[in-house]
Amino acid sequence: MPAIIVVGGQWGDEGKGRVVDLIARKAHVVARYSAGNNAGHTVINEFGETRLHLVPAGIFYPDKVCVIGNGVVIDPKVLLEEIHELRSRGVSVERLHVSSRCHIIMPWHPIIDRLDEELRGKAAIGTTARGVGPCFADKVARAGIRMGDLIDPEAFRERLSFVLPYKNAFLEKLYGAEPLSFEEVYSTYTEYGAEIAPFVTETAELVQDALERGEMVLLEGAQGGLLDLDAGTYEYVTSSVPSSLAAGAGIGIGIGPTQISKVVGVCKVYQTRVGNGPMPTELLGEEGDLLRERGQEYGTTTGRPRRCGWFDAVAGRYIARLNGMTSVALTRLDILDQYPIIKVCTAYRLDGTTTKIFPSSARTLLRAEPIYEELPGWQKDTRQVRAFEDLPAQAKSYVQRIQELLGCPIDLVSVGPEREHAIIIRPII
Ligand code: GDP
Ligand code: IMO
Ligand code: MG
Repeated sequence: MPAIIVVGGQWGDEGKGRVVDLIARKAHVVARYSAGNNAGHTVINEFGETRLHLVPAGIFYPDKVCVIGNGVVIDPKVLLEEIHELRSRGVSVERLHVSSRCHIIMPWHPIIDRLDEELRGKAAIGTTARGVGPCFADKVARAGIRMGDLIDPEAFRERLSFVLPYKNAFLEKLYGAEPLSFEEVYSTYTEYGAEIAPFVTETAELVQDALERGEMVLLEGAQGGLLDLDAGTYEYVTSSVPSSLAAGAGIGIGIGPTQISKVVGVCKVYQTRVGNGPMPTELLGEEGDLLRERGQEYGTTTGRPRRCGWFDAVAGRYIARLNGMTSVALTRLDILDQYPIIKVCTAYRLDGTTTKIFPSSARTLLRAEPIYEELPGWQKDTRQVRAFEDLPAQAKSYVQRIQELLGCPIDLVSVGPEREHAIIIRPII
């Protein structure tokens, strides 16, 4: 059985954790392949509400093998806190495996993340300040420390002896910040390494073996295409290497593209964004506040208010095509339940012309004005609906219109945050 990718279709926080928790029931392996603890995936099930930053959302099923693949960067303190929290709730983490190739977020990374943002001033990205960007930068600069180094005290001493003076030079000379002490970093991080070591393995082998046995592998993406380093609204993007797009999943887990059979894009029925950068359909003032309050749109990782707006089908189709989405899981239909009129952006007005092409430059996108189509709202509660045909007629038309605009079939409509709040049109697995 081949692998299925669940990928974010907007600016992140589309409900990937919720969708993975729902469909993982029929998978054997659930794996994260990119990003770090900038991601925050909320799952509400029999264990209550959990916000996962690193552990895949399949962890709640006792029989699933969960993998943190080589494409993920790990803050060991955050991983251990997550493991402890899961254990304290009675969730077994015995089947969690972490790649020895994961890069480690070291204490200088969050410091540099914050100082970099200060230096950028008005042009700040609005990062999650978790050190993820500087860690990926070090990965590419070949100045990173990997999980395999961290769990081997001798290798770690050798690597830190090279990397720390280099990083301290940056901290002191570039940012005017205090240097970090070798012994403090070494002793704290060797303790983390010792506690994580039992989870560390060659995860690519594990996933490849599972695929060879014909088992179903579910690959859980982080962020969304509009935040991708290449495809997104650069420079207001995240930093994952490999990409936040589906194409990055194979590299981030260690399998080839021929082993992937489906790409499921998760999209909200409206648009949100955390952090800075252009967002053509953003609703400002009272309209934006209303949607934020109805949707309780506050960041899972940082608690920051999310910017809210109408569904942007220009951006949606752009990301659907870049990911080669085979289907879409649409979330948060219930949040639009009370609106009399719902708008969808079908094109942009840009420099006197009308376009359906998503511009490559953030500066150009800033000038794009949304052209809206208005659809009638349903003004009925949808949270208890479990079959597509039982949705109010206007809600069905809205979903069908989004399907048409994205050019991709919708397999699942989520009508609430809990596992059972779902309309399964076609089973994904
Ligand atoms: P992720 O990063 O893509 O996993 O998404 P987040 O967990 O950061 O944010 C999605 C939020 O929407 C979470 O609070 C979910 O509990 C919630 N959610 C997901 N699907 C639905 C839905 O259909 N309706 C409602 N009301 N909330 C949802
Ligand atoms: P999930 O997986 C929403 C955003 C940040 C910022 C930009 C760069 O939960 O969907 P970074 O800390 O990555 O350098 O910040 O990217 N961002 C996210 N926004 N959901 C996420 O992940 C995000 N991960 C990063 O807000 O705008
Ligand atoms: Mg999130």
